Amino acid sequence: MIRALCDEKRILVCVGPGGVGKTTTAAALGALAARRGRRTLICTIDPAPRLADALGVGGLGPDPRPVPAAACRALGIPDDGIERLFAVRLDTERTFARFVESEVTDPEMRRRIFDNTIYRQITTALTGSQEYAATLALYELARDGGFDLIVLDTPPTANALDFLDAPKRLAAAVSSPALKWFARPPGAAGGGRLSLQRLWAGGALVLRRLAKLVGSRFLDDVAAFLVDFQGVLGGFLARASAIDQLMRSADVAFLLVLVPAAAAVDEALYFHGRLREAGVPLGAFIANRVAQAPGLTEGGALAAALRAGSAFADLPDATIARAAAQLEPLARAFAARCASEGRELERLAARAPGTPVTRVPLLDHDVDNLVELRVVGESLISG
Ligand SMILES: Nc1ncnc2c1ncn2[C@@H]1O[C@H](COP(=O)(O)OP(=O)(O)OP(=O)(O)O)[C@@H](O)[C@H]1O
Ligand SMILES: [Mg+2]
Repeated sequence: MIRALCDEKRILVCVGPGGVGKTTTAAALGALAARRGRRTLICTIDPAPRLADALGVGGLGPDPRPVPAAACRALGIPDDGIERLFAVRLDTERTFARFVESEVTDPEMRRRIFDNTIYRQITTALTGSQEYAATLALYELARDGGFDLIVLDTPPTANALDFLDAPKRLAAAVSSPALKWFARPPGAAGGGRLSLQRLWAGGALVLRRLAKLVGSRFLDDVAAFLVDFQGVLGGFLARASAIDQLMRSADVAFLLVLVPAAAAVDEALYFHGRLREAGVPLGAFIANRVAQAPGLTEGGALAAALRAGSAFADLPDATIARAAAQLEPLARAFAARCASEGRELERLAARAPGTPVTRVPLLDHDVDNLVELRVVGESLISG
């Protein structure tokens, strides 16, 4: 199933809560698709430094770069002189700046926008701004058409749906009637720029109170931003709606990464339902870090296995028996955990029929190198 998604889709989006393995999954999927011959771009967000270095995106850079040939070899990508795997590290601030630069030609106006506190708030601190930037960058990369497949890693979202809603929400925030009120076209005396003077002239008591609360500088910034941003707003709204359309097209598949725990499964089911309501079916669930059941849980069998290991050959039987007795409850507890994870994943599959659940095992250590990444990739197609 994952194989088919890698072969057929143009965009794969890995979503999910914080720390579940979105970046790892996105990188492994990208490597898989490149191995299968597709010219693939991995768009990462904050990859672990070692993984970023391995993929050749350790340094900051807004443009996609080919993953070094040695790394491609380690990932099993055919070494035939054709570059197939690329990576880019998304940068929220740069993405917004590029958009403003594409819409505003006047350098003075650009500078005013970039210096404005409100612009900085909207592009860095507003809920959804990182998600919007990721979709904005994705849209541009998809439009430029240099890749067969783009795999998008996403920022951690409290609710994975935030990601789908981000373009609309941000568009609503910058075009809300309340904010627009400030930016009503200034009268002849306004000289083209809004200032608090106009607000005072309006005699709006509420605004005076507001100015006391938040500072008049802030209100001036809001007004100035909205006047300057009027020119960009049309483009911004049009882009938000184009992104919304792109994210809902059949070329795109969402993959929800989760850990095999009850709360995560509940959340995944909720997301699955909401996506269906929105008409965007989920491509697959990726259950990451699934513990592998211990082969042995019984004391006698554990002792025999220890005795068979050359490292313990010289230990007295009594020592081995004691060690096995201490291992037994741990092995049983671990087996119980694996069984409970298995039940949770079965519940997920039963409640979301038609959406495959792919399992990736919990590895011994972090996936911060190419060998581990390849292991994750192999689990994705076999799990
Ligand atoms: N299957 C696995 N086995 C062991 N470790 C894993 C596995 N998958 C991911 N990890 C490790 O878990 C950590 C979190 O993974 P990752 O960075 O991919 O998550 P994320 O969802 O992108 O996190 P964030 O929400 O913070 O961006 C990393 O240290 C990664 O190496
Ligand atoms: Mg991440």
